[in-house]
Amino acid sequence: MNEKNVRVASEQTIRDHFVDEHRTFEVLFAELLQALSSVEQVRVAALWSAFESGVCSHLEAEESFLIPPLLAERPREAGALLAEHRHIRTRLGALTKALESRSFGEGSVRGFIDELRAHVRHEEAVLYIWADERLAQADREALWEKLADSRRERARGTQPSR
Ligand SMILES: [Fe+2]
Ligand SMILES: [Fe+2]
Repeated sequence: MNEKNVRVASEQTIRDHFVDEHRTFEVLFAELLQALSSVEQVRVAALWSAFESGVCSHLEAEESFLIPPLLAERPREAGALLAEHRHIRTRLGALTKALESRSFGEGSVRGFIDELRAHVRHEEAVLYIWADERLAQADREALWEKLADSRRERARGTQPSR
């Protein structure tokens, strides 16, 4: 881990990082609703794409770095979070198809966001608090490294390799 990553890691908890990302989803969601109400189709598609890829990257980071160690200590909790992730991916896929077929409506987006918020409440109450207390130092460093890589890749305008 380089010096910059150590500094970032020491200033921010795991909970801080993931809760910040949840907030960015809320901001994108508010913009998406506004674009939907003004029937700005191109903007709706761009906002949905940013929202969908942001949520997918977020789920992948949780599944790569946080949920496997949780699984070892609290398998029921980890299994429940993974089931919620599967459901979220199914809903994202259905909404992306709806967008492509121009049957993308505010009601279905609001319904999905309510489900996403329920998942967020679940993991903010369980997963991140557990991770800040229990995650091994090596796993923590690997997480910060991956997040720093992802930020650099986004700054270059490309997607990080998985
Ligand atoms: Fe999650
Ligand atoms: Fe999350």
